[in-house]
Amino acid sequence: MTRLPIRMTVNAENVELLAEPRSHLADLLRGELLLTGTHTGCEHGVCGACTVELDGAPARSCITHAGACDGATVRTIEGFEGDAVMAALREAFTAEHALQCGYCTPGMLVMARDIVLRLPDADEARVREELSGNLCRCTGYRGIVAAVMRVLDRRRGLAGPAASRAA
Ligand code: FES
Ligand code: FES
Repeated sequence: MTRLPIRMTVNAENVELLAEPRSHLADLLRGELLLTGTHTGCEHGVCGACTVELDGAPARSCITHAGACDGATVRTIEGFEGDAVMAALREAFTAEHALQCGYCTPGMLVMARDIVLRLPDADEARVREELSGNLCRCTGYRGIVAAVMRVLDRRRGLAGPAASRAA
């Protein structure tokens, strides 16, 4: 079978690999590069579990064709060590009990970081709307939204528990 040569930057490292034509980015990350922090759920673009940063924006790696990634810059959940916003989100997810099984969490965190940086003035309704493409089967979303609001409030210089607003 003909394989596609792919060159990418993944978590600040240059990688070269050969991809099967029908494969998607999540296949490459998990199967070839063993970056299993990127989860797959629905594998047709609905649940958001596979969300990674692709050329600076969140993308669903399960519907991103491997061949379209040649030359791309990818950051997976493993690539955010040392990132202050991600560290704040991780702390807030813990404080607000924003995960149970954790399956959705890598995708939630990548999406949440994008919200915090792109929409610094977002209110709770906007956060819920922005997160609506990331499904969680455990938490009921209250804690997740509260965690994102906690980080947004801190960055806006506002104190106080976000959880009380996020019911
Ligand atoms: S696994 Fe990619 S959106 Fe569900
Ligand atoms: S914490 Fe289990 S799916 Fe979200």
